[in-house]
Amino acid sequence: MIDERYILRTYNRSGLEIDKIRGNYIYTCDGKKYLDFFSGIAVNNLGYDEDVIRAMTDKMQSYTHISNYFSDRDRSELARVLIDNSIDGRVFYTNSGTESTEAALKLVRKWGRSNNKHKILTAINSFHGRTTGALALTGQKKYQKDFEPLINGVEHFVFNDSDSLVSMVDEDTSAVFLEPVQGESGVIPLDSDFVKTLSELREKYGFLLVMDEIQTGFRRCKRLFAYENYNIEPDLILLAKALGGGLPLGAMIVSSKLEDVIGVGDHGSTFGGNPVACAGGLAVLKKLTDKDFVRSVDENADYLYNKLLAVKEKYPHIIKKLRGISMMLGLEAGEYASVIRDMAVEEGVLLNVTGGTVIRIIPPLTINSRDIDLFINVLEKIVSRL
Ligand SMILES: Cc1ncc(COP(=O)(O)O)c(C=O)c1O
Repeated sequence: MIDERYILRTYNRSGLEIDKIRGNYIYTCDGKKYLDFFSGIAVNNLGYDEDVIRAMTDKMQSYTHISNYFSDRDRSELARVLIDNSIDGRVFYTNSGTESTEAALKLVRKWGRSNNKHKILTAINSFHGRTTGALALTGQKKYQKDFEPLINGVEHFVFNDSDSLVSMVDEDTSAVFLEPVQGESGVIPLDSDFVKTLSELREKYGFLLVMDEIQTGFRRCKRLFAYENYNIEPDLILLAKALGGGLPLGAMIVSSKLEDVIGVGDHGSTFGGNPVACAGGLAVLKKLTDKDFVRSVDENADYLYNKLLAVKEKYPHIIKKLRGISMMLGLEAGEYASVIRDMAVEEGVLLNVTGGTVIRIIPPLTINSRDIDLFINVLEKIVSRL
């Protein structure tokens, strides 16, 4: 394939060359069809959605870019919908997850400077992006070590470990960055007791809470944003991935108390909030807030969970744990994880492995019971052979 010669080798590519996506299926150039339990890593939350594509193509007839010096109705409307469905405040648009993290990092640093708070805390094994600022927050040495020195003032606590957090938070803490479910290190949801400790510490020390919803957002974890499953309200929310309906679009939602921290000239982005991506994003949000759609996602998520639980109970020596929320689930399968993924491709199902040992189940939210049955049959067939 031509990409093997010309594209830098930063990914272990599967070797599949994609022709098209229709519904929950991916078709390759050699005429094969695959059930998508991958979703472009939690981007194609609606699979292939005709309303989203139409919104984008309609917009393209008007223009593809206008810059952030002019207003675009879809961009403004999308910001309104995001705010109406999260915290009161304002939106800053980006093009990717790591840019949303960078924007928050700058806001937190500026706020911290005027409040005499200089330390940022994130979790060990967290993932917040790969640009050098975000990389300092990503609590994984393996990604950081060849690029040091990174920015200073960032420290890492043990995820879900209240004692660890208590030992690190103090008057100097400006912000805690947190994923509601750690995605890149094995699909590990936040623990409610840990969130309670976090809230108490936040009350006492007044640091900012930044929720990284880049992977968990947009109904992947039952609610529109995963933090809503917990009794907590963030100061900043980071978004990307599914927001643009497949086009590059990210955002930082800033609570109203912080809306003047970043002002004219402090930050910007030429492409951030691209009008075509925002038009697609509006169509995405319309579907994700539709009551009938939400009901069917919930039903299918329960169906999927129960089917997976049955497989886990039947083969406990292979599938050791099942965890996650709604349509973001993880199967702990040790050294079998990548074997199962590779065998699933042969059977026409695309899966993804995270953290080395966990099969990450992130289908399009449009998945139905028929496709879930197909997936479970393939999974059981593979696992029974191991
Ligand atoms: C939780 C989280 N934060 C940040 C990022 C970075 O997003 P991007 O790859 O769009 O820069 C990711 C990407 O996987 C992510 O899962």
